Amino acid sequence: MSRKIHLALHPYGVGGPGQHGLWKDPRIAKDASIDINYYIRQAQAAEHALFDALFIVDSQFINATYPAHYLNRLEPLTLLSAVATHTRHIGLVGTASSTYNSPFNLARRFASLDHISGGRAGWNVVTSFDTGTSRNYGLDEHLDYATRYGRALEFVEVARGLWDSYEDDAFPADVVRDLFLDPARLHELNHVGEHFKVAGPLNLSRSAQGQPVIFQAGVSEEGRDLAARVAEGIYAPGGSLEQAQDYYADIKRRTAAYGRDPEHIKIFIHGGPVVAATDEAALRREREIFEEDNDLVRNLALLGRSFGAYDFGAHDLDAPFPDIAHLAEKGGRTSAAGIIERARAEKLTLRQVAASANEFRRSPFVGAPETVADTVERWFAAGTFDGINLAFRTEEDLELFVDGVVPLLQKRGLFRTEYTADTLRGNLGLPVPVNRHTRERALAND
Ligand SMILES: Cc1cc2nc3c(=O)[nH]c(=O)nc-3n(C[C@H](O)[C@H](O)[C@H](O)COP(=O)(O)O)c2cc1C
Repeated sequence: MSRKIHLALHPYGVGGPGQHGLWKDPRIAKDASIDINYYIRQAQAAEHALFDALFIVDSQFINATYPAHYLNRLEPLTLLSAVATHTRHIGLVGTASSTYNSPFNLARRFASLDHISGGRAGWNVVTSFDTGTSRNYGLDEHLDYATRYGRALEFVEVARGLWDSYEDDAFPADVVRDLFLDPARLHELNHVGEHFKVAGPLNLSRSAQGQPVIFQAGVSEEGRDLAARVAEGIYAPGGSLEQAQDYYADIKRRTAAYGRDPEHIKIFIHGGPVVAATDEAALRREREIFEEDNDLVRNLALLGRSFGAYDFGAHDLDAPFPDIAHLAEKGGRTSAAGIIERARAEKLTLRQVAASANEFRRSPFVGAPETVADTVERWFAAGTFDGINLAFRTEEDLELFVDGVVPLLQKRGLFRTEYTADTLRGNLGLPVPVNRHTRERALAND
């Protein structure tokens, strides 16, 4: 069977980072980010188009300068549980922080979503970009990279251990034998590690896909290493074709180095397609979108987010970019390092750096349906992704992609023409992890 492209939908309500003007679009309801029907409608449209997953990002820190969507949004697992009851096939991936959660609680919540959805849950493990989150959780400072990523690895290991608490035949529920539970099939975890001490067992059995699928979204050295060790999907930053190729090859290589099958980690690059009847109309629309979003005050705030929500108010806009690298050591180090490097190399002022944070960059996926399908095909063949994480401005834009581009990808044999599985693992071509206790017993009996 030829390799197929995976598609995920990434709805952003009234506008995420850089989408400063989106909330003003008359087609966007001002309460989209807290309207469950907005998410259900989009999930159903994406499911109708046979997409693999709906992806919900999250953060737990705001100030008044944050993107419109961040200011007023639903908690991802609550949101996805509601969407689960209105969909049947599409995967439901929610972002949750391993820095500001406890493994028992989060493992239980994801296992619940996995049951509610019939085996369609995914967890995007983040270590939290926003350093200010620490103050909402009793800490004066965000944990450093090494601690956050060490904690993330142990967190996932504990969650996976808890998800294996019950073997698949743990509940005979046999009235004749008066046996509801077979206690030999229930296992405590008794984990004692550097960051966590968790006894278990979890009070929830495994779902139709065994365990929720682990996603990860980090670009630093530490982030890539975590992905290679435990992730089954990645939300990658994208960039140019060459950058995407490098990232893809790097992650697959690291995954293989950990003794894992590189096919068992699916890399989704970000894509914000702009589709119109003609290439010219799409290119025009892309430029219009840029103008709608271009706002110096908002660009400055967005820039500050990479430096712990730093307020540039006290700085002269036309002076050289200030030396604030130390503020990003614990948060968005990778993006901050890139910003500082460029500011130094090109001798940019604060105003210029703020402008470059929202610089006009052509997306590769802009044009008439045929053009966009050609680019998707070319990028896929060039080894840049396994899937695309698609963000559209409006529901109309999603429709244009679904009606125009998806049929072309199907005609070319690049995208499914029907769902062949009901679980997220099934649709992504990921194996169901065998329960560790069942496996150990099988090995012992060999
Ligand atoms: C595509 C993508 C999506 C992300 N989504 C989130 C998110 O929803 N919440 C969050 O706190 N961080 C998110 N991040 C940030 C990462 O989790 C990470 O904190 C950030 O990239 C900085 O760490 P790094 O230097 O390891 O990349 C995302 C990153 C990428 C590339």
